Amino acid sequence: MRAVEIKPGIYWVGAIDWAVRDFHGYVTPNGTSYNNYLILDKHVTLVDTVKHDFCEYTLENIRSLADPATIENIVVNHIENDHASSLDRIMALAPNATIYITERGKKALDRFFDTSKWTFKIVKTGQSLNTGTKTITFLETPMLHWPDSMMSYVKEDKLLISQDAFGQHLASSARFDDAYCDQYSVTALEHAVRDYYANILMPFGTLIKAKIAEIRKLGLEIDMIAPDHGIIWKKDPGKILQMYLDMANDKADRRVVIVYDTMWHSTEHMTIPLMQGIQSAGVEVEVLKLRSTPMSQAIKRIWESRAMLIGTPTLNNIMFPTVAEFLTHLRGLRPKNRLAGAFGSFGWGGGAVKEAYELFKKMGLETVEPGVEVLYRPSAEDENKCFEFGRQFAEKTIEYHKKFDGNVTGECRS
Ligand code: FEO
Repeated sequence: MRAVEIKPGIYWVGAIDWAVRDFHGYVTPNGTSYNNYLILDKHVTLVDTVKHDFCEYTLENIRSLADPATIENIVVNHIENDHASSLDRIMALAPNATIYITERGKKALDRFFDTSKWTFKIVKTGQSLNTGTKTITFLETPMLHWPDSMMSYVKEDKLLISQDAFGQHLASSARFDDAYCDQYSVTALEHAVRDYYANILMPFGTLIKAKIAEIRKLGLEIDMIAPDHGIIWKKDPGKILQMYLDMANDKADRRVVIVYDTMWHSTEHMTIPLMQGIQSAGVEVEVLKLRSTPMSQAIKRIWESRAMLIGTPTLNNIMFPTVAEFLTHLRGLRPKNRLAGAFGSFGWGGGAVKEAYELFKKMGLETVEPGVEVLYRPSAEDENKCFEFGRQFAEKTIEYHKKFDGNVTGECRS
């Protein structure tokens, strides 16, 4: 891989990680890329670095354009390890470079490196760096998705370098949206965007809406968005802004996703009449078993669906461990505007379904109660109860969904 010019004098100098399948617990079946950008101007400027394992790749790309010692400025948009953990090696080659970073970024960077000999310029929203013929204006984006985060806007090129925001975990030989869609499909790209949003940005919808409104208020003209992962939005940067607004507004399909685990197939057995009951009310339904489905994939489908039914056996009076783990993870992602219900089997005391509802309430989710709990194996009568609960849950889903999107389906259909 060599540097790719994305705008006159601005080059992608990043690295493609074809092999990563576990990105701090998030399953990445399509790998990812660590994008960073070199501005060849009077004052050579590097925007972001890459994950430390890939430092040689970015150095090779930089060297194809310039001696790293000539780098005068390094912009650190985000200090998470996948973007800043090569910084010490780059600084060793360009020791006189000035690092442009937010105040919170500097404090965090001090925890990772000995920065005592490095030169910093702390920046705030609206402040700029002139590289000779180009002006980089900084835009702080705290909690999108770390406290230190910011974006960099190159006015002369209408280019927004957006760090993690608007990215996707995709390893590809394509660098731009049009080339990727030609090689694969628009649908594949949209899936990657939603997967990334659901697993990383779900908690920050309100901030995303506010930040997009701020970008619009600042009157920034944008004809390219270059994130730190995946493809660069060249053909249609408006598409990704609209997708983010839709997701931040909690758009979802009128679908129930059943996520369950099972000990001796009793809870699993219940999914069949539940599914049939949901279908009988005309609502789409999908069933995912936790131990057969990567957690990040189940999170994505919950995010894309208006309602969830969680199935859990009772084990030692509490939820089955994989279900408890999943709901704890989901709680951290703070889903909003989703309807929830629970079901499961037990042998003597029960309690898992009750515990699931308690968690839904802690998450602030609207629920349909009391769910269904059956002793040992579902009897024919239990199956009828499951069918009926599925039907009622689907009817509530139809009603609930109207509050958000009207009687519409298909916005996020796979
Ligand atoms: Fe891609 Fe927040 O790091």
